[in-house]
Amino acid sequence: MPMIPEAVIAMLASARIGAIHVIVFGGFGAKELSNRINHAEPVVIVSASCGIESNRLIEYKPILDQAVTNSAHKPKKCIVVQREMLVVDLNSTIDVDYSDELASARPHDCVPVAATDPIYMLHTSGTTGEPKAIVRPSGGHAVALYWTMKNVYDVTSDEVFWAASDLGWVVGHSYIAYAPLLYGCTSILYEGKPVGTPDAGAIFRAIRQHGCSSVFISPTAVRAIRREDPEGLLAAKYKLPKLRSFFMAGEICDHNTMNWIEEVINRGSNGNVKQVVDHWWQTESGWSIGAMCLGLGDRAYTKSSNVGKPVPGWNVKVLNSKGEEVSQGQMGNLAVKLPLPPGAMSTIWKNDEKFVKTYFTKFPGYYDTLDSGRFDEFGHVNVLARTDDIINVAGHRLSTGALEESVASCREVVECAVVGLNDMVKGEVPLALVVLRRGVDRDASELKNVIVSHVRETVGPVASLKDVVFVPRLPKTRTAKLSRSTMKALANGEPFTPPPTLEDVTVLDEIKCALGEAGIGQSHLN
Ligand code: COA
Ligand code: AMP
Repeated sequence: MPMIPEAVIAMLASARIGAIHVIVFGGFGAKELSNRINHAEPVVIVSASCGIESNRLIEYKPILDQAVTNSAHKPKKCIVVQREMLVVDLNSTIDVDYSDELASARPHDCVPVAATDPIYMLHTSGTTGEPKAIVRPSGGHAVALYWTMKNVYDVTSDEVFWAASDLGWVVGHSYIAYAPLLYGCTSILYEGKPVGTPDAGAIFRAIRQHGCSSVFISPTAVRAIRREDPEGLLAAKYKLPKLRSFFMAGEICDHNTMNWIEEVINRGSNGNVKQVVDHWWQTESGWSIGAMCLGLGDRAYTKSSNVGKPVPGWNVKVLNSKGEEVSQGQMGNLAVKLPLPPGAMSTIWKNDEKFVKTYFTKFPGYYDTLDSGRFDEFGHVNVLARTDDIINVAGHRLSTGALEESVASCREVVECAVVGLNDMVKGEVPLALVVLRRGVDRDASELKNVIVSHVRETVGPVASLKDVVFVPRLPKTRTAKLSRSTMKALANGEPFTPPPTLEDVTVLDEIKCALGEAGIGQSHLN
């Protein structure tokens, strides 16, 4: 679904009748959609004829048709919202028109459910390509989100709250749909980008036009705006008298980006300081684990990777690899002492075992956030990196495993590794290191295009590979595990110490050389 009211209506309608909804972000391709259809086994799919991207319409119907054709599970019906800019042909055996259905629909009472019954499941990137969906219990979700509107975001129910995200992500579920609406706020659906629709002033125009009090956005979006309009001249066109706070989350926010946005929104505000707050959360948590709780009297503290104090309900600890608490200032694994607060996921769909293994086994008695970080001298959490194989591209969490699976399914590829390459705007972008089958003699640039297109078609355009570099071998440990951290450091020109368990260190020179030829990681090559 694109960012249109019918998407929220479909979510709320499902919740009303006690059904579970599963939203799939529009930027995923047919194969990824089909995996999710097979995994979630929906009775009904709601979609739209198209979405609007900066420079083109995205036809969703062919993607949906292909996904349904390829799925073993078949929905009973597909309800299609026909948008005026693209009316598509419907297949009379399975498709129905949203507006026709609405015309003949009758109101339905709310169906009571247990607080522990799921309200939705949401697929999230795990370390493999296997679908993984977290399950959100309905009661705790409603309670926790309602509580945050006052205590974290410090808004009142007559105000306008805008999470400039997408309904396909957890931020969209929690803060475009459920939290503002439960609390009584007005929420905004924005089918646009921070830049290019039409320019880098669009976010500020919308804040002004709708009188937003609080905005929630990703650092990537701010970096994209800053790149287009470094002086903030477009932003300066809009006075933002109602804006009080600007929340960021989804990835590490660098200091320059924080300072820039703070300066831009505070120009001419006559001492009426607008707070910029970095806060930390995950699909699994559903709401912030670390934040400056403005409604509890905290005041923002602009510093890179500082995500504030643990929010009430989240008993955050920093543990070493043996599960012992480390002292203040030391880096370690960010874990949450059990029990988890209301609103946190209750399991992984159809896979309780994986739920326990992924999050609760390494540190018994704790939830492992799979992030690493530390506490600073003020008791604020600094989130510094992931401890698993997830990369964060433009605030979207992608699994290197899923991308590798897609690359490896190309005929010419024998094996591959995908790592995150640092990017000025998107934070990270995926880079594939590929070993080709013996005897492949296709032109290298043609082959690169084939691999990039294959990933776009299978995983989706949102997972576009930045580049493909062909290498003779990949670095592996003696137990045949890929050393992704080494490849990542090489690609980003960062210093590293090769793991002592590496089978053959000479492979690193081969990779350095291939990366150098592709103009990647050069600054630190010697
Ligand atoms: N439906 C269909 N296609 C989509 C899509 C959607 N909902 N969202 C993105 N895509 C496509 C884009 O059209 C693009 O395709 P292209 O490569 O053919 O141009 C591709 O997926 C990559 O999109 P994106 O990552 O958005 O890159 P971009 O260059 O179009 O825009 C930014 C860059 C920084 C402006 C954009 O990534 C952005 O706004 N990021 C913020 C993300 C965010 O809010 N995350 C929320 C986390 S809390
Ligand atoms: P997602 O589940 O897609 O919301 O991604 C969650 C991951 O994004 C977290 O585990 C972190 O790695 C990262 N993340 C989210 N918010 C922040 C933040 N404020 N600072 C640093 N990393 C963050």
